[in-house]
Amino acid sequence: MKKVAFITGASKGIGLEIARIHAAHGDDLILTARSLHDLQEIKTHFECEYPVKVTIIAKDLSMAGSAEEVFDEIKQQHIDVDYLVNNAGFGDYGYFADTNWDRYSAMINLNISSLTELCHLFISDWQGRKAGKILNVASTAAFQPGPKMAVYFATKAYVLSFSQAIGQEVKKDGITITAFCPGPTNTNFMDDSQMIVSRMVAGHKLPAPKEVARCAYKAMISGKSVAIHGTKNRIMANLNRFVPRSWATKITDKLL
Ligand SMILES: NC(=O)c1ccc[n+]([C@@H]2O[C@H](COP(=O)([O-])OP(=O)(O)OC[C@H]3O[C@@H](n4cnc5c(N)ncnc54)[C@H](OP(=O)(O)O)[C@@H]3O)[C@@H](O)[C@H]2O)c1
Repeated sequence: MKKVAFITGASKGIGLEIARIHAAHGDDLILTARSLHDLQEIKTHFECEYPVKVTIIAKDLSMAGSAEEVFDEIKQQHIDVDYLVNNAGFGDYGYFADTNWDRYSAMINLNISSLTELCHLFISDWQGRKAGKILNVASTAAFQPGPKMAVYFATKAYVLSFSQAIGQEVKKDGITITAFCPGPTNTNFMDDSQMIVSRMVAGHKLPAPKEVARCAYKAMISGKSVAIHGTKNRIMANLNRFVPRSWATKITDKLL
């Protein structure tokens, strides 16, 4: 039977590649992002390339009420979602006081509030179904505080903690929650967040979003609770367990 994947931030980067993998598996898609034009092009391309139906919903998920609006639109179209991929998110590189509050507010709304509300809406809707998979895209930023990206790192720490906690709660309902933690990846995120100038990224060869998306999809399908992309990222994330948090903060400050 055909499955349906609902993917946020599907217009580019990791989200677009996750969408492509679902399409290649024959899953119908509901794709959302702000840019209607990009979504229209992706719909046309995917429906030509794969035997799938693509529904697009252009929405700014940093706006209050937007998560519920998207959910209602999906319900009005009588589509049953099997996979929820909370991928949309952005960061910002620089000292905390130098970035304006509106950007932080939008970041918290998108990276935390919308993701949490979508989980709440779908998990409530899936009660009794004994099925449903959620992939929440966190980051290796989730494992330690991040001076110069303080708010972004904290939002991803939230995503990791929240995903693990609800994952434990919904095991009994046959639902799986995967917190996926990519390290720096070669996407528009780097330019958008201005992280491109940071020591962690400048001059390094970053993995392509396609490779990262494959890891994310595999982790979600197998129902893994937490998945970190890349051996080096896994080692770094796990090292955090053995060093005092104050050291991890100083090291991250130097690396960023
Ligand atoms: N790239 C990295 O190094 C990296 C590392 C770790 C974690 N991550 C995480 O991976 C996820 C995907 O990032 P990416 O690297 O693929 O970045 P990306 O290429 O910039 O893609 C971000 C996606 O989110 C959408 N989006 C941004 N703001 C939005 C908003 N307000 N409302 C709705 N959609 C919005 C964008 O589409 P529109 O602009 O059209 O809205 C786009 O589709 C994010 O959660 C990010 O934090 C990325």
